[in-house]
Amino acid sequence: MWKDIFIKRGCLKLNLTKVYENLRNEISLKLSEKRFHHSLNVEIEAIELSKLYGSDEEKTKVAAIAHDLAKAFSDDELIKMAQKYSIKIDEIQYNFPQLLHGSVAAHICSDRFGISDLDILNAITYHTTGRKNMSLLDKIIYLADVIETGRYFPGVEEIRKIALKDIDNALILACNSTLIYLTKENYLIHPLTIEFRNSLLLKGGNIYEK
Ligand SMILES: [Fe+2]
Ligand SMILES: [Fe+2]
Repeated sequence: MWKDIFIKRGCLKLNLTKVYENLRNEISLKLSEKRFHHSLNVEIEAIELSKLYGSDEEKTKVAAIAHDLAKAFSDDELIKMAQKYSIKIDEIQYNFPQLLHGSVAAHICSDRFGISDLDILNAITYHTTGRKNMSLLDKIIYLADVIETGRYFPGVEEIRKIALKDIDNALILACNSTLIYLTKENYLIHPLTIEFRNSLLLKGGNIYEK
């Protein structure tokens, strides 16, 4: 899908520092103060993880600041935006449209901010559900979103500790805690989240050996 969009529009070489500034300005205007602070915290956490694990810091900053760009949209608005951008909406997303806020944010980043870097766009797209075989940047944004300093939930300290030495095992714990929450609340679970967790476990992640 991204390939078709880039062919149609042409790929621009962007100054990511300028893109970051534009995005930060946009989210300070569009998101609530609480969500704006969450985005800044995710950026701080993501940069720390980037230094530890070696992702590109500029891309990490851009993906982190933009990840919740579409978080203020209502369910109806998310569906409309997804249709506008020809995003395929599955049954789970139709019934739980907030799951679309990552994909919609990535399309806004491409459409309005000129981002064509697939590492950035994928990390934004999959920050809520995860996906099979996540890239390093996908993992960093997913994890930073869960463990930034404003998050308080049982087990978060343990995940923060493990994140310093083993990103995959930290992700398994983060995913487990999301699944526990979703199950408790009787929410739908997107298949990508199950695939994400299984792919980490199949690659040998084992929290019980730590
Ligand atoms: Fe989000
Ligand atoms: Fe977030």
